[in-house]
Parts: sequence; C-alpha cells; structure tokens
Amino acid sequence: MQLLENVSLRPYNTFGLEAKARYFVEVTTADELRQLLQNPRWQQVPKWILGGGSNVLLTQDVDALVIRIAIKGMEVVKEDDEHVYLRVGAGEVWHELVLHTVEAGYSGLENLSLIPGTVGAAPMQNIGAYGVEIKEVFEELEAVHIETAQARRFKADECNFGYRESVFKRDLRGQYIITAVTFRVNKVPAFQVSYGDIQKTLAEMNVQELSTRAISEAVIRIRQSKLPDPTQIGNAGSFFKNPEIPKAQYDQLKQEYPELPGYVTAPDKIKVPAGWLIEQAGWKGFREGQVGVHARQALVLVNYGGGTGEQIKALAERVQASVEAKFGIKLTPEVNFI
Ligand code: EPU
Repeated sequence: MQLLENVSLRPYNTFGLEAKARYFVEVTTADELRQLLQNPRWQQVPKWILGGGSNVLLTQDVDALVIRIAIKGMEVVKEDDEHVYLRVGAGEVWHELVLHTVEAGYSGLENLSLIPGTVGAAPMQNIGAYGVEIKEVFEELEAVHIETAQARRFKADECNFGYRESVFKRDLRGQYIITAVTFRVNKVPAFQVSYGDIQKTLAEMNVQELSTRAISEAVIRIRQSKLPDPTQIGNAGSFFKNPEIPKAQYDQLKQEYPELPGYVTAPDKIKVPAGWLIEQAGWKGFREGQVGVHARQALVLVNYGGGTGEQIKALAERVQASVEAKFGIKLTPEVNFI
C-alpha cells in the first residue's frame, strides 16, 4: 500500500476534471482496507472513496484521504440448476464483468453492457439500463464500516434499492465501503428486450435467434451511437435522474405538449425522460467554451477538454432553471458533486 500526496485526480474521473487529492492510496484487498482504517494516523482524517470515478463532478480539490478501491477477482461461489453465484471484487471494471458473464454463457447482465464504472459502485446507485437494474441480479455484498473497520454483509432487502438509489446513498451515506458483490446470474437465459431500441437494433443487426451475446452487442451499439465515449469526451453518463411527476401534472403538461413521453411507475406517478425536457428547453448540442450538452443525448453534460467542474455545475444549474421555468419540473442530479 503506497501512500501518495497531492495527487492529480484527472485520470480517475470520467469527466477528465483536474482536482488534487491531499492524500491518495490504492487498496487491493479488503484486509488491506481494514488495516488502513484501523491505523490511528488516518482515523481523524476525512476519507473519500473512489471507484471508477464515473459518477462524480469534481468542483474543487479533495482535502481528504482518497481511497481508490482496486480489489480484483471473480469466482463462482455457488451453483444450482438455474443460477450461478459469482462473487466479484469491488474494483473490477463493470463492463469486464459483463463480458465475462456473456463469454461464460450466463445471462442477466447483458442489458447493462458498457456502463462505465466499477463493480463496487454499481449497487450504490442500483445502476440500470434498457429495462434491467442491478437489484434483479444482486445476491449480496460485502462492505467495511469506515469508522470501526468491521466487515458486514448486506442482503438485497437491506440495501433498499430504488431507481438510482440505495441505502448507501441515503441512511448509510458515507459510512461503508463496498469490497465485493455477489451476483446471481442465470444458466437458463431470461431475455429482456422490451425496451424499444433493443428490438429495433437486433433487427438492424439481422439477429435471427436471441442470445445473451446478441443482446449485449445490441446494447453496446445503442450506447455507442448515443453516448459519448469518456476516453474521447469527458462525461459521467446521465447527469440528471429522470423525474417522476404526479399523474395530474403529467396529464396537464400532455395537453400543452402532446409529444411528452412518459412511463407509468406507480398508480399515480409518471416517469418523464429528462433528456426530452432538456432538449425541448433548447439545450441539446449547446456548447459554451469547453463544456456543453451532448448533441445526441441531452441528458449528458460534457467536458470537451480543459473545462472545469465549476463550469459544468453552472451549466447544470442553468439547465435545471430553464426546465423548471418551462415545465414546472425540478431535475435532480444523478451525479455526485464534490
Ligand atoms: N430523449 C429526447 N432527447 C434526448 C434524449 C432522450 O427526446 O436528447 C427521449 C428519447 O427519445 C426517449 C427518451 O427520452 O423517448 C428516453 O431516452 P433514452 O432511451 O436515451 O434513455 P434515458 O431515459 O435518457 C435512461 C438512463 C440511462 C440508460 C437509458 C437506457 C437515467 C437517468 N438514465 O436514460 O442511464 O442508459 O435510460 O435504459 O435513468 C446513466 O445512468 O448514466 C445512463 C446512461
């Protein structure tokens, strides 16, 4: 374990923003992490946990001990007729896990192909795409309590998963570090292709017979066509959550905007795509200096290189204000601000 000082976090966040970590350390096992947390030298120092840095907006230097989780490993820990239980280190790259399951012929993660970030960060916000959320394949996770360095397991019902939500973003915020996640993947595939674009893309690809691999490839195609590659253009995927509004408000807006899309999520709740609202408010493709709103998906804010976190934050606030003025809907960021 090598402790570094004043380290640039630029290579460690997908927005490519410059900010310095006062202290920086990489841990490769849960035991190493527990030792670090028990060391009196660090007990009073604030800590900040870094996975893939794909959901964070750095607006300032981080005056803390930044702990980068580099815990690797994938192993089958249990198997029955229908499922394989795969225990994965928190530092594994999410998409590499997906590819590993596709190669092995296990289904369940294919709709979540190409999501940036690490395995440990995935349950934090219950990542989801194309009709599947991680909670559907989640068995349990292992975490370490930051203050006491005690290890603890969390079953699905203890994680309080919701849309881009978990207990780790709410009641237990800042208290635990996830070190491993066990997934329950299917030996007998249960394909989820109801999300419109998937069927269309599979047809374009001339896929005759559905397979885990074909779905993964379709999702990769869709994402590559809409979402900027963070290695080329800095971004953190969707910047805002899709808002849920009361049905009465939706019905009223629909009269004024007949094209307004919406998905029923509860008897009186409709989820509206934030990308649509932002596009209608005129922001799609907007650019000011080195920051902007992506031209092919308005929900993604981008750093063309050399932009600052403050500039992106200011742009996000302008987008929020104009969507609220036009539609009366308040957008909540999905990205975490530092
Ligand atoms: N739309 C527009 N203009 C835009 C963008 C979207 O009109 O600029 C409309 C589309 O036409 C479509 C609807 O909005 O009717 C939904 O668009 P899309 O399928 O691209 O999905 P999204 O709702 O914008 C969510 C997730 C994505 C995930 C996709 C696919 C959130 C906050 N985002 O986006 O997740 O990949 O669905 O399931 O829920 C992420 O979280 O970083 C992320 C990329």
